[in-house]
This record gives sequence, structure tokens and C-alpha cells, in this order.
Amino acid sequence: MTDIENIVILTGAGVSAESGIDTFRDAGGLWEQYRVEDVATPEAFERDPDLVLRFYDMRREAIQTKQPNAAHEALAKLDNEWNGELQIVTQNVDDLHERAGASRVLHMHGTHLNAWCMACDMRSPWTGPMIDRPPCPACGAKALRPDVVWFGEMPYRMDEIYGALRRADLFVSIGTSGAVYPAAGFVRDAKELGVRTLELNLDRSQGSHWFDETRLGPATALVPQWVDEVLTG
Ligand code: APR
Repeated sequence: MTDIENIVILTGAGVSAESGIDTFRDAGGLWEQYRVEDVATPEAFERDPDLVLRFYDMRREAIQTKQPNAAHEALAKLDNEWNGELQIVTQNVDDLHERAGASRVLHMHGTHLNAWCMACDMRSPWTGPMIDRPPCPACGAKALRPDVVWFGEMPYRMDEIYGALRRADLFVSIGTSGAVYPAAGFVRDAKELGVRTLELNLDRSQGSHWFDETRLGPATALVPQWVDEVLTG
């Protein structure tokens, strides 16, 4: 991979699965336990804020008990050693990429460890529960919501993502089912831009047929192997 200069990596729940964080659509995944429309939409928050806040309080607490796995660590190694452009675009709201040591991480679906105030629009670091309506650290209003992008809301920093794709020589998708747009469309955007595409996933995804190459297996096996390949050129 010597002619690779700029890399965009998309990660999904599958990269955190072996850390013990539930994926959404695998057997036993989150969307088998909860209906999306009951906990992950603005309408759900309007209709039953306690249910939504309890759901995210549970996820926020659980995430803080998990550790990065070998896939997160390999991507952090690549981030720290890669001299070209590298952007890890994650759909995940956990901070395992960062805790493994990655810094060029973009959370397009938000992050569990922020609170977003509906009164003053400020986002503050947040690790505790929200069910008791704690005051916003910036303005004191009891108007905090999870800083997570819900269905029907715009993902964050899309311009930066498309800019990185336009400059990329390689697009790698890791641990995502290709079920949710716009992330699911990045592989097609990349192909139209002439960018080489690689998928590392446990099972074939809804987008596998778009990739130049798909490797099937657990992220903790595939990602370190791929990172070694790309670092040794
Ligand atoms: N290693 C690699 N891939 C894995 C592993 C693993 N150990 N375990 C599961 N996977 C793969 C599955 O094969 C599946 O393709 O990870 C993918 C998980 O898919 P989803 O559960 O749909 O998660 P994701 O693609 O991240 O969902 C996208 O949907 O619900 C919304 O906002 C939510 O960000 C999420 C988005």
C-alpha cells in the first residue's frame, strides 16, 4: 500500500463489540431490546423523556466500565505513526478510540460523554446520569439531553467528512452493517471519487458489494493485521 497517503476509516459498533458494548443489529443487539422509535428519536424524547434519559444513562454508565480492544489499539497505533492524513470517522458514541490513544477521531453520531443543553446550546463533558435533570454546567438550566444524534437529526461535521473523502486514497470501513445513511453511503462516494475501498467486518454488510475488497472476521484479528500491512507498505 505504498501509494497510500490519505486514509479515511469509518467505524461502527462492530469495532467495540469485543469490548463488550452491544451492537445494534446483531442477535441480541440493542434494537432487539428497545424500539429505536422509543429511545432514539426527538419525538421519543418529547413523548417520554424519562425513558430516553434512562436508556442513555444506562449506556453512558456501561461504556465507562469497558476497555478498548486490540482493534482500537491498532487504529490508535496507525493514527500515531501515520504521516499522511488520517481521519477516523466513528458512528460510535463510546470513547474507546480515544482511550486507546487515537486523536484524529470524528464522532459523526455524537458522544455519550457530553451533555447538550437545550437552553444555551452548550455541550459539556458529562459522565453521570441525567434522569434527575441536573443543571447545565454553563447556564444552570435543567435542560440537558444526550449529545447523541438521533434518527431524523443531522450527523455532525459532514462537510469535514466529505472533504476528507475527496482527499483520500483509501477508505476503510470497520464493523458497520451499512444500514444507516449517510455513513452507509460513504463507500459509494469514495468509489465515485476513485478512492480504493476496503471493508473489515464480521459478516457481509449491506454495502459489501460496493467494496473493492471485503475481509470477514473479528475486528481484533483483522484490524491489527491490516494496520501492520499498511504501516509496512
Ligand atoms: N468484529 C467486526 N465486526 C463485527 C463484530 C466484530 N467482533 N461484531 C459485529 N460486527 C459487525 C456486524 O457484522 C455488523 O455488520 O458490526 C456490524 C454492527 O452493525 P450495527 O449493529 O448495525 O451497528 P452500526 O453499523 O454501527 O449501526 C450504525 O445505526 O442505530 C444506529 O446510530 C446507530 O451508529 C449506529 C448506526
